[in-house]
Amino acid sequence: MDPRSEVILRQLSFFKGSVLLAGLPADQLIHELKPQVSSLFAWSWHFGDYSALTQLSSNCHFSAEPPEQQFDQAIIFLPKSKELTDYLLQRIASRLKPQGELFLVGEKRAGIERAAKQLQPYGKTLKLDSARHCQLWQCNLSGPVSDKPLAEWAKTFVLEPFDQLKVVSLPGVFSHGHLDMGTALLLQHLDKLPKGDLLDFGCGAGVIGCFLKKKHPQQTVHFMDVDAFALAATRFSLAANQINEDDTVQLIAGRGIADAPHNLGAIISNPPFHQGIRTSYQATEDLLNQAVSHLDNTRKVKGELRIVANSFLKYPPLLQNRFGHCHTLAQGHGFHVYQAIRS
Ligand SMILES: C[S@@+](CC[C@H](N)C(=O)[O-])C[C@H]1O[C@@H](n2cnc3c(N)ncnc32)[C@H](O)[C@@H]1O
Repeated sequence: MDPRSEVILRQLSFFKGSVLLAGLPADQLIHELKPQVSSLFAWSWHFGDYSALTQLSSNCHFSAEPPEQQFDQAIIFLPKSKELTDYLLQRIASRLKPQGELFLVGEKRAGIERAAKQLQPYGKTLKLDSARHCQLWQCNLSGPVSDKPLAEWAKTFVLEPFDQLKVVSLPGVFSHGHLDMGTALLLQHLDKLPKGDLLDFGCGAGVIGCFLKKKHPQQTVHFMDVDAFALAATRFSLAANQINEDDTVQLIAGRGIADAPHNLGAIISNPPFHQGIRTSYQATEDLLNQAVSHLDNTRKVKGELRIVANSFLKYPPLLQNRFGHCHTLAQGHGFHVYQAIRS
C-alpha cells in the first residue's frame, strides 16, 4: 500500500460523513475507508490511476475540475507542483460544507512541510501524524471559500518565432508558463513529416500538436496525455489559436502508447521522464518499443517517430533495435532530436 494511505489508515477515527479523496493512489485505501464513512468519492486527474480506481469503486471522476457536489471532508494527496496544490486547496475548499475539514497528506521529500503552510489561509491547521516518511495535516475551515474557475488559473504565452503560436498552460502541466528548451528545438525540426494522422504523444499544453495543426490543417492531429490538466490546457490552447475541435482534432486520455491509434503518419513527442515526484522512463521506453506498431507502413506512407530528449538519455540504441536505425536531426542546449522511420 502507498505509504500515504498507510498514514491515513493510522488515523481512521478522524474520517466521517461524505469524503472526497483527491489525487489518491489506486490501492486498497478506498476499501479500508468505506465502512468508516457515509460516502466516498475519488477524484483523479491521472488516467492510469483513474482507470485502476474504476475497478475498485463506481464513484470516480477523471477531470481537471473538482466534482460539483459538496462534501463534509476532503483528503488531498499532495501533488508535485506548488501551483497545483494551491489550485486543489482553493477549489476543494469551495466544495466543502460549512465546518468542513481539509486534510493534506504527502511525503516529506515531496514537500509536505512547505505545503502545510499553503493550508493556513483556510483555517486552523494541525499536524495529525508523521510516519512512513509522510505527514498528515488537518485544517478546519474558518469560513466559506469562493470558487475560482479553472480558466482563471491558466497562463498564456505567445511563441513569436513560431508563427505567434499561443500556448495556454495550467498548474501542474509540464513547463507551466514557458516553452521548454527541448520542445523549442523540436519545433524547429518538424519539416518533411509524412502524410497521414499525426500524434502528439504526451501533449502537455498542446504546444507541438497546435503547431502541427496550424502547419498542416488538412491532417488529423491526435493529442494524447495521461493528465487531465494537460488535456484541459490543450483545449484552451486550441481555442486560443482558433483551431476548431472538429473530426481532425482528437484529444485522447491515455495510459501510454498502447492506448494510441494505429496507422499513424507520425508520432511526435517530447516524451515524459517523470511519474509524480519520481523519475520514470517507463512510458517513454514503451513508446520507443511499441511505436512501430502504431505507425503506417503502406506503399505511400512510411510512418515516422520524431522525438526530442535529453542528450544523456540512452534512447538511440532502443530506436536502433526497433527500427533498425536512428537518425539525429539536430542537437543543442543538452538535447537531441531523433528520427526513426518504419521500413
Ligand atoms: C516532457 S512533457 C512534454 C509536454 C509537451 N509535449 C511539451 O513539449 O511541452 C511529457 C508529457 O507526457 C505526459 N505523460 C506522462 N506519462 C504519460 C503516459 N504514460 N502516457 C501519456 N502521456 C504521459 C505528461 O503528463 C507530460 O504532459
